[in-house]
Amino acid sequence: MSRSALEAYSTGGAWWETEISHIKKNEIIIRGERVEDLIGNVSYTQMLFFLLCGKHLTEAQAKLFESVLVAGSDHGPRAPSIAAARMAATCGVSFNSAVATGVNMLGDVHGGAVEEAMSILYKTKENLANHENAVDDKLTEIFNRKGKLPGFGHQLHDDDPRVSRLYELSEELIASGEISGTYLEILASYRDRLSERKGRNMTINVDGISAAIQCELEIPAEAAKGIFALSRGMGIVAHAYEELMSGVRIKGPCPNEEHLVRYTGVQKQTGGEES
Ligand SMILES: CC(C)(COP(=O)(O)OP(=O)(O)OC[C@H]1O[C@@H](n2cnc3c(N)ncnc32)[C@H](O)[C@@H]1OP(=O)(O)O)[C@@H](O)C(=O)NCCC(=O)NCCS
Repeated sequence: MSRSALEAYSTGGAWWETEISHIKKNEIIIRGERVEDLIGNVSYTQMLFFLLCGKHLTEAQAKLFESVLVAGSDHGPRAPSIAAARMAATCGVSFNSAVATGVNMLGDVHGGAVEEAMSILYKTKENLANHENAVDDKLTEIFNRKGKLPGFGHQLHDDDPRVSRLYELSEELIASGEISGTYLEILASYRDRLSERKGRNMTINVDGISAAIQCELEIPAEAAKGIFALSRGMGIVAHAYEELMSGVRIKGPCPNEEHLVRYTGVQKQTGGEES
């Protein structure tokens, strides 16, 4: 149940309540652990998971999670987030503003498929417990509304090197018992059933495999866009920096060529009497 900030405060809550960090003079406690014990002992990815979920990943699990962050880090200026950051960098804004411009391009459509795929994978696992057709039913529901299954298909790749590599790493962790493999199996069922229905091979994309891995690690679906911002954020920082250093000024979304932008509004009236 959501409450207004004022209501929570007036009924005895503190203005900010957090289970994450406790900051006092000369003392920083994060999720119950002293920051000096974390520094030097946990990796960036382990810290991200610890902050978010309050639990520690094993070294192997953290490496797999980190691989997801590495896989999503860059897709060149074809990706709107990268292009936007580079354009901003040519407009005289501060470097962090250029980075924020790129990050702010991430949404339900660009970078958002992971969250939706994770929700579907979590829900499908629940449904499979008492309904063996859960995968087919979900596909029927998506097909009926002429939707697309998130985590499948790509405008450019049909054999994405990121997907096969992440699969390979996941299989190592399934073999060593570090992850169960349940969500990867569900993802594979979706691939098989979707391919049958479409009558051709439908490929898992980087968002699909990243979603399954994050489900294996029990990361909440709602956190996916924030995590992707940290992953793609690396690429955005690098591209914005490169563009900034190039000294190019005011780079628009396309070259200044007439045919690239077409006016489709009302035409200017000609020959009418002046009033
Ligand atoms: C990425 C995406 C927009 C590419 O779409 P696209 O350019 O239309 O892909 P294709 O041209 O290869 O699609 C061809 C066919 O496969 C179908 N298709 C493609 N991706 C599909 C999906 N995820 N679910 C169901 N059907 C899909 C299309 O509907 C089309 O079917 P048709 O020939 O019967 O009309 C699309 O695959 C998609 O929306 N995927 C889901 C969202 C997602 O995962 N985004 C992250 C991308 S990294």
